[in-house]
This record gives sequence, structure tokens and C-alpha cells, in this order.
Amino acid sequence: MTNKKRYDLPIPFGWFAVALSGDLQVGDVKPLEYFGRDLVLFRTESGEAKVLDAICPHLGAHLGHGGSVQGESIACPFHGWQFNGDGFCTSVPYAEKMPPKVVDKQCIRHYATKEDNGAIWCWYHPDDDAPHWELDHVPEMNDDGYWCNQETREWIIDCHIQDTNENAVDKAHFAYVHTSENVPEGEVEIDGHRRVTELASRTQAFDDYGNMLEGEYTDTSFTSKSFGPGFTWQHFRGVTNSIMMGTITPLNEEKVHLRFVFRYPELTTDIAKLFNQGYIDEVCRQVEQDMEIWNRKFYQPNPILCDGDGPINQYRKWFSQFYAEEVYQQEAS
Ligand code: FES
Ligand SMILES: [Fe+2]
Repeated sequence: MTNKKRYDLPIPFGWFAVALSGDLQVGDVKPLEYFGRDLVLFRTESGEAKVLDAICPHLGAHLGHGGSVQGESIACPFHGWQFNGDGFCTSVPYAEKMPPKVVDKQCIRHYATKEDNGAIWCWYHPDDDAPHWELDHVPEMNDDGYWCNQETREWIIDCHIQDTNENAVDKAHFAYVHTSENVPEGEVEIDGHRRVTELASRTQAFDDYGNMLEGEYTDTSFTSKSFGPGFTWQHFRGVTNSIMMGTITPLNEEKVHLRFVFRYPELTTDIAKLFNQGYIDEVCRQVEQDMEIWNRKFYQPNPILCDGDGPINQYRKWFSQFYAEEVYQQEAS
């Protein structure tokens, strides 16, 4: 089995985070490798983030290595040609006449880019379709007042993007991989590119010093949303109040960049800090446990499932709407 391709799934279309907003200042230029392509990300002088294919159509230099921002364009490091965020050539500094091939014509592929929720997102579609839906706006990710603390963790994982979210519906693995009795089971609502799960439960209560209160329980609730294939959002309310944005961006068909951005309000007591840190560490510990499996598994397109497995097929049908290739699409039930 070891020489076989581990996944026979293409890269889906959708909005994908390519950077956190704070990581790109005006004038910054960064090379990126996502969607199996060489890309360049830059922030123009007016402050807009732009994403283009990185290879210059003149003689092939990589714009992300040595390119520089000039006004609203990026200049190539090789011969100084300039391209705007729509992929049009705006200047060939040493030419008397602009080559007809670039006059009023897009000459580099560009990616629709939006900045929201503290991140820079671009729309990827294998056939270069325009966005099929608007990027979802999460008010909490834009509210730096109440949600004043932020922590980010990130991982590169050797798996297909479909697998990272399948984890949430794979009920049985919680007991075996995470040795956790808490199996998240809740109402799932599907609405086009959105998938929303609401869970409510009761857990052990603690006092303000972290002592277990025997026989006392507290209400816990958990909302989890997926907005297309590359964007998840969770709100956990219980021993701590914490939101988490998950961004999953494919590097290629067998590798993803996973980021978790945690946000939480001001914590005034040591015990609140302890519970909050415990929650974040537990979420990250679970990802790292999953990675042991993800990094080596082979995708089963027609798995043998049992009645205790959770709604894996329902999830895969929902996810299949993000494949441009008909052969991978499944009818929603
Ligand atoms: S290769 Fe980019 S300007 Fe020549
Ligand atoms: Fe897991």
C-alpha cells in the first residue's frame, strides 16, 4: 500500500485564509504556496491585500521573492515590470510601447481577496470561477473590545482538507484517539455552504478556587459552524467563555495549513486563566493526537461504517458540493 496515492480527492473551491491581517503591513510582499500553486501576497500603499499567481509573465521570475510594492502594483525583481492586484500590467518602465499582449488584458491570474475576521482570505476555484458565496462575517472576530485576548496556533498536516472537518462527526474516534468520554452530539443544520452544530450539556461544576463542587453541575454549550471547506468557527461556553476561528487552507491535495485563532474576554482571576488555558491546551492536544492518524491515513471513498460511527456520509455529501469536478459530487440526502 505504501506507494499508493493516499487521497483521490481534488482541492475544493471556497474562501481560504492566506494570512492573518496583522502579519501583512503596507508594502509587505510574501511568497505563498497554496492550492498547489506559487502565489504572491502583497499589501498595496492604500492598504489593500492582493493575491496573484507568483510567476511573472515576462521571463518567469517569482514576484514573491524580491518583488516590491509600487503604489497599487507589485514590481517584479527581475526587470521591474509592474502588475496590479487584478493581474494587469501597469508599467514596463524601459519600454517605449507597452507590448500589445498586455494592453488592457489580464496577464497574471488573480484571486478575489477579502479582509475580515482578522484574516486575509482569497477565493480559490480550480476553473477560476468568481466567488459562489460571500465570505461570512463573524462579529466576535472583529470585536477587539470584549474579545480582547487572542492566541494563535498553527500546524501543517499531511492530509486532505476534507479529513480535518470529518473529525467532528467521527463519533467513535473520541474514545480511542482522545480517550474522551465527551462525544459531541448535537443538532446539525445545513444551509448551503454553511453547516451549524449546536450542543448543550451539563458538566461538573467548580468553585472559584478550582475545587470540584460535589453533586453540582453547570450548563455548557458549544456552537460549531463551518462556512464552506476552509473556515470554521466555534463558541464554547462553560467553565470558560472562548471562541475559536479555524482556518484550513490546502497547500495541495495532501497537505493543509491549519490555524486556530482563540479569542477570549479579559480574565480577572487565576482560576479563570487556568480554565481558559486548560481549554485551549486541550483543543490543541486533540489536534496533535489526530495528526498522528491524519498524517498517515489512506482515504476510503466507500468506507465500511457501523451504527456507532456518526454522520460521516452526511458530512461527505455536504462537503462534496465544494468540488468543481462532477465525479466527486454526491447528491445531498
Ligand atoms: S521576469 Fe518579471 S519583469 Fe522580467
Ligand atoms: Fe479528533
